[in-house]
Amino acid sequence: MLLTISSVFLLVQLVASAPVLTVREEMEQIFQNLTSEAQEDYFAILFNDTLTLRELDEKWDQWAEKHGIADKWAAYSAKWLARREKFNETVILAMGRLPSAYRMMNEITSNRDQTIQEVGEALDKLQETYYMEVSMLMYLSKVMVLNEEQIMGGERPVEVGNEVSEDLRRMRDYKNKMRGLKALLVPGPLV
Ligand SMILES: *[C@@H]1O[C@H](CO)[C@@H](O)[C@H](O)[C@H]1NC(C)=O
Ligand SMILES: *[C@@H]1O[C@H](CO)[C@@H](O)[C@H](O)[C@H]1NC(C)=O
Ligand SMILES: *[C@@H]1O[C@H](CO)[C@@H](O)[C@H](O)[C@H]1NC(C)=O
Repeated sequence: MLLTISSVFLLVQLVASAPVLTVREEMEQIFQNLTSEAQEDYFAILFNDTLTLRELDEKWDQWAEKHGIADKWAAYSAKWLARREKFNETVILAMGRLPSAYRMMNEITSNRDQTIQEVGEALDKLQETYYMEVSMLMYLSKVMVLNEEQIMGGERPVEVGNEVSEDLRRMRDYKNKMRGLKALLVPGPLV
């Protein structure tokens, strides 16, 4: 699918020798010159929360057709779809590789015969091969440190109604959510 889409882009580019636009540029092309009616229609669809995702797709297509930008919309949609597929591929790949990366990270960090600097160097080296996975695991460990602080600090969740600001409320929600990650502190099975 991805290949097909890229080939189509390549073909279009060769035929028209038009510059290849990024997803964002493709979107700007569309939104630059929208009439106010087209803008209103756009937001009416965007904020209609009774529409299913499939209905949204249909509505966007009808909208583009109605306002004479079907070709630009198709180009934008194809790029967005290709980007989403690429994202999915990356996530699936990273999930498959996470257990190995986790095992290797554990091996590195549990070797007590290294200086902190050597640990850092070994992790950097691992990251050359497992960039995405090591980044994810480091992010996860940051989340767990937050969680630890919460548990070891004996901090109770901020009571509803006591918040003095929206920021504090968001922090409370965030911290309460982090609390649920306690289960992750039990080391998972190694592969
Ligand atoms: C937007 O409109 C301007 C002025 O009519 C035009 O020069 C420009 O090419 C249009 N841009 C797009 C992306 O259609
Ligand atoms: C949302 O979409 C449905 C289906 O097209 C339509 O019947 C309804 O009037 C829309 N709601 C709003 C608020 O526009
Ligand atoms: C993501 O990739 C998997 C495996 O190739 C596939 O089964 C799934 O349908 C994809 N999901 C999306 C949203 O593309």
